[in-house]
Formats: sequence, C-alpha cells, structure tokens
Amino acid sequence: MARRSVREPPQLAKPVDEVPAGSLAVLRREAADCRRCPLWRHATQTVFGTGPRRAAMMLIGEQPGAHEDLEGQPFVGPAGRLLREALADAGLDAAEMYMTNTVKHFKYEQRGKARLHKRASASEQAACRPWLAAELLQVRPRVVVALGAMAAQTLFGTTFRISRQRGTWQALGEETQALATWHPSAILRMPSPQRERTRAELVADLALAATALA
Ligand code: URA
Repeated sequence: MARRSVREPPQLAKPVDEVPAGSLAVLRREAADCRRCPLWRHATQTVFGTGPRRAAMMLIGEQPGAHEDLEGQPFVGPAGRLLREALADAGLDAAEMYMTNTVKHFKYEQRGKARLHKRASASEQAACRPWLAAELLQVRPRVVVALGAMAAQTLFGTTFRISRQRGTWQALGEETQALATWHPSAILRMPSPQRERTRAELVADLALAATALA
C-alpha cells in the first residue's frame, strides 16, 4: 500500500477552523445530517462526493441540481452528461475521478411544479467549506479541477476569474496542483457556436489536467 505523505494537504483559500475528521464513509454519514446552514430543510438529501478514496484527480462543481438532489450523487443530470463526455474526449475515465461539489445541498425556488436552481449564498458556501476541506484531506488528490467560479473562488480566492485564468496551474498545497475551467451548466446555457468553442476549451483544460497525472 502506498504510504501517505506527511506534507501539507490541499488548502482552501479561506482556512477552515475545524475540519471534520474521519474516513469518507464517516464524513458522508455525518454530512447526511448536516445542519450548518438552512439548505437541508428543503433539499431531498445531502449530495456528498463520490469516487475512489485515493483518486488522483478530484473534480469540484458548484452545487447539486434537481437530478442530483433526487439521486444523491453529483453530476448525474444534463451537466453531468456533458462533463462525462468531455472527460472521455480528454482521455480520462470518469470512474477514476472523485467528484464533489462546493455546496452539498440543492437550493431552489419552487415555481408551480418546477424547482428552479438558485445560487447558494456566500454564507451557505462558507457553511459547507468544512466538508470540502475534509474531502481534500482524505482523498489528497494530486490534481484538482474546479468547475466554474464558485469552486474556483473557494480554492483560489475571490479575485479569481474563470474567463481570464482558466486552464492555468495553481498551487494548492505541497502535493497538489489545481486548475479551473468552465462549468458544464454554463456551457449548456450558451448559444451555438459559443457552446462548441467553450466545450472544446473544457476538453483542452481536462486534457491539460491529465498531463499532471502521467
Ligand atoms: N452542477 C454542479 O455544479 N454539480 C452537480 O453535481 C450538478 C450540476
């Protein structure tokens, strides 16, 4: 079995006071009863990260959508389909990735029968940071890919801009390299031909991330 490094684990831009301890299984069970912010009240369940506990690459999205809320797994809806196809195009196997989100509950506004996605507030994002810090500590990926601004700013700070800085390596602790790229949901909302162009940039950024695993 590979020996665990004693070097600094990957850190978030804003330090977390107390990182929850325990294996991923323990963390998942505890997060299921999370009451750190009010989002649990209307969500079906906590959507914790999934994937191998020693995954070399971690993908961090923003927050679960309606599909993820019902299934309890990240990236299983339309954005997840786009992401999984982009991973395959970049030569990466989605089953080998640890996938998670910055915020672990679905936030929405009820409009008739529809549940319309709402962005988690700064305080809801802050309340969820200990879970992400704990996942990074347990998995200790060599490469982290932040999908979209929420994840990127949680990792690299609030001045980070996807449009200017995507696809550039950022240090994230002594043993982890990271980069940010487009969020697949943002790509789905774009008109053609911007959508195809941006999808190609997502694939290029994922392929760059893959080079760090070689
Ligand atoms: N968008 C995200 O950021 N995460 C998901 O799990 C699904 C959609």
